[in-house]
Amino acid sequence: MRADDGFDTLLTERLLLRRSHVEDADTISAYRSDPDVHRQQGWDRTDPDGVRAEIEEMAAREPGEPGGWVQFSVEERASGLLVGDVGLSPADGELGVIKVGYTIAPAYQGLGYATEAVRALIDYSFGTLEADVVRAYADAENTPSIRVMEKTGMRLMERFSGRDGGEVWFGVRYEVTSTG
Ligand SMILES: CC(C)(COP(=O)(O)OP(=O)(O)OC[C@H]1O[C@@H](n2cnc3c(N)ncnc32)[C@H](O)[C@@H]1OP(=O)(O)O)[C@@H](O)C(=O)NCCC(=O)NCCS
Repeated sequence: MRADDGFDTLLTERLLLRRSHVEDADTISAYRSDPDVHRQQGWDRTDPDGVRAEIEEMAAREPGEPGGWVQFSVEERASGLLVGDVGLSPADGELGVIKVGYTIAPAYQGLGYATEAVRALIDYSFGTLEADVVRAYADAENTPSIRVMEKTGMRLMERFSGRDGGEVWFGVRYEVTSTG
């Protein structure tokens, strides 16, 4: 696997994926703060300053570079509006494995945008980063996210449970390999 120091944008039929920049923070903060969105993700902070700090931290990293996430903002090409974000990160200590994450703002959900963006991310991970495996995690009850995984060709690899305070939490791990 390799890091990509020449990343520009990823284009799909309806979407453009580009590096997130600090001017995106207010929009991203607004949809991440929606309780239905926040419930599914592990973000510590969703306020604009927190999102801005995270974007600044990621700006120093190339996609595919070990050590953490790189985030792309997802724009609707027809309107130029920011409708969500996706991210990728090499898995710690597992050569060739890329983890992906994705969020679409509630107003734009159900249009197939996450599926379209994640497909582009998978193609990019295999084609440009030369990853062997693309992986995603979700709460076992997060049906929309699991549908996105299934529609992008990922398969269920593991069911697991964890604890969040006193609450037991059930999760799933899905993966697709470069050989299909
Ligand atoms: C998961 C998420 C990114 C999906 O975004 P999206 O753009 O709406 O996804 P798509 O339109 O590509 O596909 C959604 C699929 O979920 C299905 N779906 C949506 N809501 C559903 C529900 N309540 N019950 C069952 N299926 C549902 C849709 O019907 C669609 O599947 P289909 O094409 O088979 O009909 C979005 O819901 C989101 O941001 N959720 C909060 C954050 C999150 O959970 N991120 C993933 C963490 S692992």
